[in-house]
Amino acid sequence: MDIAIVTGATGGIGYHTALQLAEDGKQVIIAARGRERGLAAAARTGGTWWELDLGDLASVRRFAQRFLESYGRLDLLINNAGVMAVPRRELTTDGFERQFGVNHLGHFALTGLLMPALRAAAAPRVVTVTSGLHRRGRIDFDDLMGERRYRQFGAYSQSKLANVLFALELARRTGLTSVLAHPGVAHTDLARTGSAMRDVIIRLVRLSAQSAEAGALPILRAASGPEVRTGQAYGPDGPGERRGRPTLIQVSGRGRDEAAARRLWSISEELTGVRYGTLTNAQ
Ligand SMILES: NC(=O)c1ccc[n+]([C@@H]2O[C@H](COP(=O)([O-])OP(=O)(O)OC[C@H]3O[C@@H](n4cnc5c(N)ncnc54)[C@H](OP(=O)(O)O)[C@@H]3O)[C@@H](O)[C@H]2O)c1
Repeated sequence: MDIAIVTGATGGIGYHTALQLAEDGKQVIIAARGRERGLAAAARTGGTWWELDLGDLASVRRFAQRFLESYGRLDLLINNAGVMAVPRRELTTDGFERQFGVNHLGHFALTGLLMPALRAAAAPRVVTVTSGLHRRGRIDFDDLMGERRYRQFGAYSQSKLANVLFALELARRTGLTSVLAHPGVAHTDLARTGSAMRDVIIRLVRLSAQSAEAGALPILRAASGPEVRTGQAYGPDGPGERRGRPTLIQVSGRGRDEAAARRLWSISEELTGVRYGTLTNAQ
């Protein structure tokens, strides 16, 4: 039986992804913080909840350690969890700006720490969930954590561009299948902590939103499609990639910038203390 980990599967896209993977016969680990929501999602999907807070590197290390000791092999990792447009700048436990820390650095560390298990699988696959907003993103290498200037959507777009750079660099550096997917615009809890400005933008965007179940389809296609190749990206086929059936899409030019990907990779290794291949115990 294939083993799959889905981060942030307590609701939204991750929940529907986990549900379908379990129905397809995979053994699914719901990697999420919050015992109550985690156990509820596990009961509804047929998966198992394991605690993971991507905003805390110690929690990421505990999760990975437990997984390596329990299984030793991982067939599918879905880097899905995320936070969007946090109104005021917040920090993770390790002092990273929350969106960059959770959406990118947490998944960078998790994937790196799970590499021994991924390498032990016959056909390992990593799906990293980005957003159409990665196209608006810029990696501000001089102010990655928004210390000088914090913009809630700017920080989100930066983190989602970082997801793209990471997934494509992972494809280049490792032999495993690393694929990107985005759900279009889907009704989920992503916009739960509001500011007035954000609520207006989100209400407008939601007019064209699809269900969370439909939003999970590109992720499922990337996870399970036999035709999928490393370095590809999937999203909805409708106007502006906001809704529709899953199809192969192109990421932005900035997402394909290999020099930026290498630079981000080495900064991410420094910040997390996780080095792919040779894993350190720093932090
Ligand atoms: N919905 C959309 O329209 C849309 C569009 C483009 C991209 N996306 C992407 O889709 C992915 C899923 O988002 P969603 O729309 O399904 O939103 P959601 O319903 O808010 O789900 C996000 C999940 O991430 C988890 N999470 C947040 N912070 C975490 C942390 N520190 N550690 C572990 N888990 C954490 C949440 O867990 P808790 O229950 O503990 O908060 C929740 O399970 C995200 O990567 C998002 O960027 C969504």
